Amino acid sequence: MHFIRRKGWEIPEREATPEALFLNRRSLLTTSARIGASIGAGVLAANIPNLAFAAGEVDPSASLYPAKRNESYVVDRELTPEAIASRYNNFYEYGLSKSIWSAAEALKTRPWTISVEGLVEKPKQIDIDALLKLMPIEERLYRHRCVETWSMTVPWSGFPLKALIDWARPLGSAKYVRFETFYDTKLAPSQRGFWPWPYVEGLTMAEATNDLTLMVTGAYGKPLAKSFGAPIRLHTPWKYGFKSIKSIVKIAFVEERPKTFWETSGPGEYGFWANVNPKVPHPRWSQATEEVLGTGTRRDTLLFNGYGDFVADLYKDLAGEKLYI
Ligand code: MTE
Repeated sequence: MHFIRRKGWEIPEREATPEALFLNRRSLLTTSARIGASIGAGVLAANIPNLAFAAGEVDPSASLYPAKRNESYVVDRELTPEAIASRYNNFYEYGLSKSIWSAAEALKTRPWTISVEGLVEKPKQIDIDALLKLMPIEERLYRHRCVETWSMTVPWSGFPLKALIDWARPLGSAKYVRFETFYDTKLAPSQRGFWPWPYVEGLTMAEATNDLTLMVTGAYGKPLAKSFGAPIRLHTPWKYGFKSIKSIVKIAFVEERPKTFWETSGPGEYGFWANVNPKVPHPRWSQATEEVLGTGTRRDTLLFNGYGDFVADLYKDLAGEKLYI
């Protein structure tokens, strides 16, 4: 596909961010800088209502949160306050700016059916709340590194993708998992544009069954806000954020490597693997450092975003592949 304009998340964050929001983020610096990662999500979640449901309506999954934290996943950074993380998003279905959180309220997250198909013993369709009852929900603190060079640390809740795969029973011939976001131009008018909608992402089976790979259904001790990709999204913290597909409706087990949304949109700039590597620049900017949202500071970016102990082995026999962009 050929471009007629630059994508919002391809430009440096300062250029992509409206000045008012940028200044507002700076003013939050003093609050966030003193909050340690050891403080629970509940403290940082204060005062941000979950707008997914109208006044008086209760999200059917509300009682699942806050979920018990899995202490195996430690972070060496402060958590990003919810007021920043949930209102500074990339969700192109709702526009190219970072400030899509109110537009994303148009998304209807119930009923929500997820189709599990392709190379499985038996294709299935399951309602999100039925799925949540089957899955082991826990909280994990993960770092997130966007290809635009900003980062955040979020208390996500959800379940390992591996648990869903065990339930889905894929055939031995399945080599990849392909994920698809909803496609509904009434709910998301931006999907009328020229992009190759719906948003598609993919993982190898080895990546999908890695301990780190999380299906996210909540954040900050509550059901997932719409701006984060409610009611269910992926999170792969060792990859650039664009792999972490939001608002998933279809999960297919396939033999061929899925062609992703960004590979189709910009094949010279984005590949299938998208692993974080500070030494491999994006064709148009360096990936060496990142702005830590809410702190006003930059830090060095780490190989695999610091998660190499979990995932480096997955790539040792893939020297010929373009693993890092
Ligand atoms: N998923 C969908 N469906 N649409 C998107 O535009 N943006 C991606 C990813 N998943 C995107 C998506 C990008 S570029 C990033 S950095 C993360 O979502 C942003 O997640 P966040 O808004 O929760 O920070």
